[in-house]
Amino acid sequence: MKYYIPLLLTLSALSGAGVSSSTCKSCHPKIYDEYISSAHHLSSADSDGLFKAIWSKAPNKKSCLKCHVAPPKKNPTMNSSIDCTGCHTIKSIKHGDMTNSNIYEKREKYFYSAQQSERGEKLKYEHERSGWFGLNSQRSGSPYHTIDYSNDIYYNGKVCMGCHSHKKNNNGLILCSTDIKSMNEKQNCITCHMPDKSGSATTIRISKTHKYHGFSGSRFGENMLGKYIDMQLNATKKSLVITIDNRTPHSLLTHPMRLLMLKVILYKNGKVVYSAKKSFARIVGREGKPSAPWLANEIVRDDMLKANEKRVISIDIPKNITYDKTEAVLGYYLINPKVAQKLGIKKNSRLLKFHILKRVIK
Ligand code: HEC
Ligand code: HEC
Ligand code: HEC
Ligand code: HEC
Ligand code: HEC
Repeated sequence: MKYYIPLLLTLSALSGAGVSSSTCKSCHPKIYDEYISSAHHLSSADSDGLFKAIWSKAPNKKSCLKCHVAPPKKNPTMNSSIDCTGCHTIKSIKHGDMTNSNIYEKREKYFYSAQQSERGEKLKYEHERSGWFGLNSQRSGSPYHTIDYSNDIYYNGKVCMGCHSHKKNNNGLILCSTDIKSMNEKQNCITCHMPDKSGSATTIRISKTHKYHGFSGSRFGENMLGKYIDMQLNATKKSLVITIDNRTPHSLLTHPMRLLMLKVILYKNGKVVYSAKKSFARIVGREGKPSAPWLANEIVRDDMLKANEKRVISIDIPKNITYDKTEAVLGYYLINPKVAQKLGIKKNSRLLKFHILKRVIK
């Protein structure tokens, strides 16, 4: 059941407001707060130390801003990032060989969104709606902007594909990719990375939930996504068998800098008696050695868990070991610690934290 309560906003609060994300805060405070501490807001050189470390070495710095700053700005600064309108004014996606591109809406304050109940509609302020069998008419819409609910890309996740689809370097090597073909309206980028959270989407039309704008992923909220990974642990006398089921429609980690790691630990009377590690990555390079992404012309290693892959890993247990408890931990480093060292990232940097996705104890 939806309620369209009369809008009693002082319009003076809105006049002269430019379309920056802070404009949206007054009416969408929950979403704004989540966005402010998300990877999208923190995509600039000033706020993302990892981006800065690599960007400062890249030969064609401007090319990076195509996705790290949105909507495009004439004079981007070190703290330009992805604004609310960087997504909500995407009209369509243009396929490209090197990367895709976003085609932006040019009409002022014309935003796109998705909602099954409104599908196909364009909602303007003071749009008359009748309720109670025509006995009552109520207003809906936003006093700040028009909303177009007829753009399918907001329902099927394609809206993410201008930036997240694929990226090739000048040598024609694909550095990272996600594939939308296997997704549908029931399950896509939005359903997993923007789950419904409690709290109203607007302060004016009250809803129970809103789409999470913290964009859980490797940078933030990794524990929210663990449910899409299953891990089982079976121990025999000679070995530990770990089965990892990646139930996501993309490689478990997509960025070539990441290092996924499985740690197993055996205990006896609460003390560690044995531990082992196994890492998984997709590393780009040349002449068989890892290199900066822009120099790479081959994949030097690829044992990352692929889309929807179930992998069985067996780890031998040394003969003389007896144990009464086993533990398996699946997690990752945002940046491969070896690469971090080369980039001069300090050992105690929080960029080198081990993030945990899944833990099983038996
Ligand atoms: C003056 C208040 C106000 C401001 C400022 C405002 N909005 Fe809204 N917005 C609303 C209201 C009210 C609705 C709900 C309209 C409805 O469904 O009847 C809404 C709905 C939306 C929706 C669609 C939600 C849905 O139901 O799917 C999007 C997307 C959106 N706003 C984005 C933005 C962005 C981005 C900004 C900043 C550039 C912004 N809004 C600024 C009031 C505002
Ligand atoms: C086609 C769009 C696109 C272009 C162009 C692009 N990036 Fe990115 N970048 C992304 C996306 C999307 C992510 C997040 C993906 C992920 O985490 O797997 C990302 C993530 C990153 C990260 C990881 C950030 C972190 O905090 O973990 C770094 C570093 C980075 N990009 C550097 C660059 C550099 C340097 C360039 C230019 C040489 C560049 N990017 C060009 C889309 C792009
Ligand atoms: C305008 C380009 C752009 C669009 C559109 C976009 N993203 Fe991103 N996204 C990025 C960039 C760039 C980053 C990496 C920022 C950084 O960490 O520096 C990123 C980061 C992320 C992350 C965090 C990745 C990590 O490693 O933690 C997730 C999750 C994500 N995006 C999901 C989405 C989803 C879902 C959509 C569609 C609703 C979307 N993005 C639309 C550019 C975009
Ligand atoms: C079934 C749920 C699911 C769907 C659908 C899904 N993802 Fe993910 N995504 C995950 C999980 C799980 C992870 C790994 C956990 C993490 O990074 O915290 C992840 C990780 C990511 C990352 C971070 C990767 C990295 O290397 O840091 C990005 C970016 C991302 N997804 C973008 C997308 C985009 C874009 C789409 C749509 C094309 C999408 N995801 C569809 C569940 C999903
Ligand atoms: C990375 C892309 C991206 C960014 C950045 C982004 N949004 Fe969204 N937003 C979406 C997608 C995708 C949805 C879900 C589909 C839809 O309803 O449009 C959504 C949904 C919404 C909704 C409807 C939520 C609901 O549950 O009904 C509102 C309101 C909204 N966004 C406002 C904002 C505001 C305000 C900002 C900035 C503070 C913002 N968005 C930043 C992609 C984005």
